[in-house]
Parts: sequence; C-alpha cells; structure tokens
Amino acid sequence: MPTPTSPIGVFDSGIGGLTVVRELLKVLPNEPIVYLGDTARVPYGNKSRDTVVKFSTENVLFLLHHGVKLIVIACHTASSFALPFLERHFKHPILGVIEPGVETAVAISRSGRIGVIGTYATIGSKAYLHAFARQHRKVRVTQIPCPLFVPLVEEGCVNDSLAHQVALRYLKPLKAARVDTVILGCTHYPLLKQTIARVMGPKVTLIDSARQVALKARVVLKEMGLSSDQGTGANPSRRFFVTDEPRHFEALSRRFLGRQPGDVSKVDVSNAG
Ligand code: DGL
Repeated sequence: MPTPTSPIGVFDSGIGGLTVVRELLKVLPNEPIVYLGDTARVPYGNKSRDTVVKFSTENVLFLLHHGVKLIVIACHTASSFALPFLERHFKHPILGVIEPGVETAVAISRSGRIGVIGTYATIGSKAYLHAFARQHRKVRVTQIPCPLFVPLVEEGCVNDSLAHQVALRYLKPLKAARVDTVILGCTHYPLLKQTIARVMGPKVTLIDSARQVALKARVVLKEMGLSSDQGTGANPSRRFFVTDEPRHFEALSRRFLGRQPGDVSKVDVSNAG
C-alpha cells in the first residue's frame, strides 16, 4: 500500500520527461521520485497506438514494482494514446499531461482560439480535441504536428537561426488562425519556448504542460492524503532508470533537468511485473 513517503513515478519515452521532473522538483521539493525513460524504444511520437499502449503498460508495471503512490505520464504521446487504457487497467492514480494543459488553456484564452503543437502521434490521436470537448466551452482549436522540434532540441538548437526558421514554417497556420494561446504539447517544446514566443509574438500565451501537471500532482496527492510535502527533514530520493545505455541520457539531462540527475541505471522493462 502506498504511503506519503512512497515515491511519485514518472515515465517518458526518453529524456524529455525530465522537463516534468524539473517542475515536480520545484512544486513538490520534498517528494521522492522514480523516473523511467524508455530510451531503447524512443521515439514514441511516430509509433502506432497499439505499440505505445504496450510500451506504456510495461513502463507502468515497472514503476508499480517500485511502490509508487502516483504515476505521472510525462510523455504527451503516451498520454494521448495510452492514458484511457491505463486508467481502465490499473487502480493506481495516473496523471497525463493533456488534461492539465487543456484546463489551463480554456481558463486563460480570451478569444477561444487555441493552438496545440505536438508529435504526429499526439496530433493524430485527437486526444487534445477530445479533452477540449470535455471542457464544454466553445473553442476553436488549431493543431499542428512539429516533428523536427524534438531532434532540434536534442541537438541543442533551441535559440538559433535554424530553430527560428523551422518554427516560422511550422507555426504559420497558428498565426493565420490568430490563436491567443498555444499548448506546448510535447516534452521537448518548453526548451523552445523563447523561439516559439519570438515567432508567435508577445500577445500569445504559451502553456507549459510540465508546470501544469506538477501543480495537478500536488492537488491529487493532497486529496489522497499521500503528500510528503510537509518535509521529512531527510533528502528525498530521486532515482533515474533508462532502458538503453545511460551515457547519452546523462550527457543531455542537464539541459532538460537543469542539473545532473545523479545515478542513472539501465533496466529491462519488457518483463516488468
Ligand atoms: N516524449 C514525446 C512526447 O512528449 C516526444 C519524444 C518522442 O517522440 O518519443 O510526445
């Protein structure tokens, strides 16, 4: 049975989910965290629903094995394709990144014209459109896949002319639709915030779902009476696991997490549980 001192489990297709961990560390500094990056099978963003559901199920089983009290799906593609399935099959509380971003967008958009950017899978799944429909507010959503953003971020091209050129090309339909709010619907996009903001202009609000899901996690833990945020005095543990050799993850993690993650261990999750 999970207790307040049990860790929060976070999984992603790879390294991008560290942007969510970064926000969790700010919002819930006393919570222990177990992170799993499925680096052997990344990217998820161009894979089918069945494949992403299978991988996500294995990731959840791995995290449950570590006694987590709450699971946060940091990956937008996994949230889009697998969250409904995972909610049906596991009793544990599971948070995805789609709903928190949508709730925030609906709350702050004045015009109701909202943009969503993400991977091919996230956009193709229509998960964002379904989440907006559940909000019962009249909005006009323009969705755009931006597949080149992920490799750009991983190559460190975030504020340069190359990133700017790609953003100009991708974001044209959002400018044409005169959106006033854009959801950054992919783990990597918060790192491109400055470039996207420069292209969209100062009147457009960018929603960082990583921040929103961390805030939601705080509410959910409080409601369940499982928050360890009162401070235990001890250093909460942060454990990082990847499914491929950790060197690449370690090299890039500072950019996503803002610091070195410490020990990163390789695991095989295909037989988890
Ligand atoms: N983590 C993925 C997402 O947020 C991006 C990387 C991938 O395609 O796996 O959609």
